[in-house]
Amino acid sequence: MRRRTSPSGFDTAGIRPWNAGIDGLAFGGDYNPEQWPDDVRLEDIELMREAGVNIVSLAIFAWATVEPREGEFDWAWLDTTMDRLHAAGIRVALATATAAAPPWLTRKHPEILPQRSDGTVLHQGSRQTYSIHHPVFRDYAVGMAERVARRYADHPALALWHVDNEIGCHNPRDWSPAAADAFRDWLRERYGDLDDLNEAWGTAFWSQRYGSFDDVLPPRDTTAFGNPTQLLDFDRFNSDALLDYYRDLRDTLREITPHVPTTTNLMAGSHKEMDYFSWADDLDVVANDNYTLAADPDRHLLLSLSADLSRGIAGGDPWILMEHSTSAVNWQSRNRAKQPGEMLRNSLAHVARGSDAVMFFQWRASKAGAEKYHSALVPHAGTDSDLWRDVVALGGAVKALGEVRGSRVVARTALVLDWPAWWACEQDVHPTQVQYPDQVLAWYKALWRLGVTVDVVPPSRDLDGYDLVVVPTLYLVSDADAARVRAAAERGATVLITYFSGIVDENDHIRLGGYPGAYRDLLGVRTEEFFPLQEGESVRVSGASLPGGGLTADLWTEKSTVTDGVEVIAAYDDGPLPGGPAITRRTVPAGGDPGTVSAAAAPVSTAGTAAAAGPGGSAGPGVPAGSAGSAAARSSTGSAWYVATRLSDEGVAHIARRVADEAGVLPSAAVPEGVEVVRRVADGVEFVFAINHTDAEVTVDAGRPAPLSDTDAALAAVVGTDLLTGEDVTSPLTIPAGGVRVVRVPV
Ligand code: GLA
Ligand code: GLA
Repeated sequence: MRRRTSPSGFDTAGIRPWNAGIDGLAFGGDYNPEQWPDDVRLEDIELMREAGVNIVSLAIFAWATVEPREGEFDWAWLDTTMDRLHAAGIRVALATATAAAPPWLTRKHPEILPQRSDGTVLHQGSRQTYSIHHPVFRDYAVGMAERVARRYADHPALALWHVDNEIGCHNPRDWSPAAADAFRDWLRERYGDLDDLNEAWGTAFWSQRYGSFDDVLPPRDTTAFGNPTQLLDFDRFNSDALLDYYRDLRDTLREITPHVPTTTNLMAGSHKEMDYFSWADDLDVVANDNYTLAADPDRHLLLSLSADLSRGIAGGDPWILMEHSTSAVNWQSRNRAKQPGEMLRNSLAHVARGSDAVMFFQWRASKAGAEKYHSALVPHAGTDSDLWRDVVALGGAVKALGEVRGSRVVARTALVLDWPAWWACEQDVHPTQVQYPDQVLAWYKALWRLGVTVDVVPPSRDLDGYDLVVVPTLYLVSDADAARVRAAAERGATVLITYFSGIVDENDHIRLGGYPGAYRDLLGVRTEEFFPLQEGESVRVSGASLPGGGLTADLWTEKSTVTDGVEVIAAYDDGPLPGGPAITRRTVPAGGDPGTVSAAAAPVSTAGTAAAAGPGGSAGPGVPAGSAGSAAARSSTGSAWYVATRLSDEGVAHIARRVADEAGVLPSAAVPEGVEVVRRVADGVEFVFAINHTDAEVTVDAGRPAPLSDTDAALAAVVGTDLLTGEDVTSPLTIPAGGVRVVRVPV
């Protein structure tokens, strides 16, 4: 990559906290005053005070307003806005103003426009209509960031730098000539030697061998299937290049204001193209944007996943919810307004999972432009509206939760997620089309419904401290990352891996000798061939420890054998492989050598006998293996479960409960359907967030976590204070229909 400025040599210890000068949690959103006349801007400040706004993101799309013609600057309105915000005690996350280039720039330099894979040029007229790879654009962008930084370096309202906006939202992949040059530079740096590239890309296949780096193209539209590793490297390159663009601007800002923290707003949970785990170290604080999907009845679960992923990117630290919506968005096919209470639930669900901020797009609903139907804190209807009254109430709630700031969510369950594995998994010409997020979400949802709090972590994260490690469909994995999962099992954790995992290495080369290569020994399973199911086809799987009629599954089956001692929890009743193992469990000795699975491995056990015979096997239906003790209490014997098919939701729920119970993982509370309980922990105190997503009042034993199997656990009548109402409460806790309670409990 071209690096314009050196990221090294900065003393990051001197960077002040992003929320210095804010009391408690941050509350606010994107502020775009350039869309309004001055009388409205003056009213904005009054209304921000009324709602309790203490931070805004400013100047995100301000470039063309600040510099309407090249070299002609109008800063006055921005100076005034900064001063007014400061006078009102409102802090500013100030943007580099680079998220949309002014029209004069692309007219003068059409070479900076991005291109699609078929060579179509994308033109000015919306936003992010530039190639971040083009040196001319980079110069202009860095220049703009520098001007903003110099002008406001010492402004007392400046809290945080907001680099560009949702980097890669609209231009995550670019096939322009500038992108092609940058791709070749990136490949030279990654491989050094052309032979290594040829080896990694498997170019002996289809006469693709390269004699020069100059012959390499980004994977443009071509006649047949593209080279898989070229496609994968292009994904890696683009993610790295977008990060490099961030670094360029960040370094520019940092040189001028070494003490001011820098971030950019991620889109974790909804965007495939950026490997945010690899971005984390460059963000002084992780900031995320999240929008719920109006048509999805489970939209609050997807929200939770995004929040847990944000916390995972932040390495467990508190983070910033930088954007969500007060009500409808404008970009779904049917943009329904939120239900009463939904904004509050959404906002506090993010806080429950580690956000120290509640921020929105945007402050005031636009009357013109492409987002005029997008909700805001001040709606089109004005302040005589339910939405405004709800916004003011939310501001009060956020204020009341001030002491939550800085507390942390503690989880004993890890769900492993990886962007390169996602990219590789969803490529063409595979045994069938496997949608990676579906699998991640299926297991996440099952754990959510059990009340189990989950850390979403990359495969490179240390798994010490987790009793349960769930690895859904991790198609691509390095040896080192596969070893981490194995080490977790050898340390005593319960590990669960699902189909089409561990198949290829980092270069997307098959791990030979039988699937699932990287995990074959750990699981004690060896697969010879895949038998994906046809559209609409499903199978039954059954086993002695499964509920009566067994479970259903679809999409995927595989022909496997298991090693001695591996328990077949379920076998196929029907489908292409009747009698074959579908769900298995291997007891993993502490730190032991698991041996290897050879082609002459033990024949497939039948479900009935295996379930009775396997070590650590179930004592019978409904009695989960290993339910007797917590991970801490158990010996260091762990287990490795394999789910070789796509179970229905009911099947995933059953297995998730079993593995959570076996691992000794405690739910944050015994949660009724549709209720979410999450705990944030600080010194001597716990904040219990209880969110009722149903339309009926519920009661929750929020007193203390108890094992899933411990259905008779006495309700601990813990006294705490509801921070939202100030009332003292006891457990069981009543949560009104659609309501939220946040209870401070001394521990
Ligand atoms: C993103 C952008 C905002 C706005 C919202 C609309 O989050 O950052 O500028 O377009 O989407 O939902
Ligand atoms: C054709 C081609 C082969 C191979 C097969 C795959 O027959 O000639 O090179 O691609 O299809 O089915």
